[in-house]
Amino acid sequence: MKSSRRNFIKTGVIVSAGLALPSCEVKVDEKKVVKKPLVVSTWNHGLKANEVAIETLQNGGSALDAVEAGVRTAEDDPETNSVGYGGLPDANGDVTLDASIMDHLGNAGSVAYIKNIKNPISVARKVMEETPHVMLAGDGAKQFALKNGFKVENLLTENSRKSWEIWKKSNSNSPEENHDTIGQICLDEEGNLSGAVTTSGLAYKIPGRVGDSPIIGAALFVDNEIGAACATGMGEWMMKTLGSFLIVEKMREGFSPQEACEFAVSRVKSKNYNNEYFQAAYIAVNKYGEVGSYSLQPGFEYAVAGKNTNELIKSRSLNK
Ligand code: GLY
Repeated sequence: MKSSRRNFIKTGVIVSAGLALPSCEVKVDEKKVVKKPLVVSTWNHGLKANEVAIETLQNGGSALDAVEAGVRTAEDDPETNSVGYGGLPDANGDVTLDASIMDHLGNAGSVAYIKNIKNPISVARKVMEETPHVMLAGDGAKQFALKNGFKVENLLTENSRKSWEIWKKSNSNSPEENHDTIGQICLDEEGNLSGAVTTSGLAYKIPGRVGDSPIIGAALFVDNEIGAACATGMGEWMMKTLGSFLIVEKMREGFSPQEACEFAVSRVKSKNYNNEYFQAAYIAVNKYGEVGSYSLQPGFEYAVAGKNTNELIKSRSLNK
């Protein structure tokens, strides 16, 4: 219902503007073998997320159901201190979360700076499916979640509170890079792609800070005709180069997912005039189930799963 309204709006704009649009025709290589189902996630918590995503597909779920269920595992895990429950807080000691989700129809939903809601990815999906909007932020996002059955929960675990207290005592004014954001892409048996990203963002950030994760095109982009990409790393940099969108567009031009990820990481580095140390990494999957990954610094890992496989792979990096 909501999707058809969006499509109507989209079509309406094009028709009423009377524009001659450039051709967006995509050449599909019919002979290429498509590897599916396929799930790819960032970091080692991606292994668990992949397992749940594959299980979701096996139980009849779509790629969208799979990525939502997949990344929720990291949101629920108190040991993962960069996502959801157990995430490191901002400078005031509040855990604030960002998340985004995108489906094979090009629908997108996201939440930014949401507090006390454990599964922002599911709120992002509700924004996508139940509202005419793409992004809700702050208290509005929380109120929307509460109206939709989510509960207020304390997300600051004892461990995260202790780490925050140590940081406070250090009199540091700087946030700390905490870049283990989970991003996941799924290509299901139908050949449909979806993606999801969720994070607590930089540790001890200035209250109000929002990173790249809820920004469509920065941390996540899906075009079902081409492929999908997700980002993890320093949001302040990732959101200035819209790397996920860039990767999908490079794949549209004929780059492999690997080449496209390398292109996007180089772009981030080339715009980093201060030559600061930070991580920036991407994963990408194309329509044929080919996978790419590249990071700015060494140390990035990603998990790739099929029907009966799930393995953690060390990414290649630009800096050695
Ligand atoms: N990439 C996650 C963040 O910077 O918030």
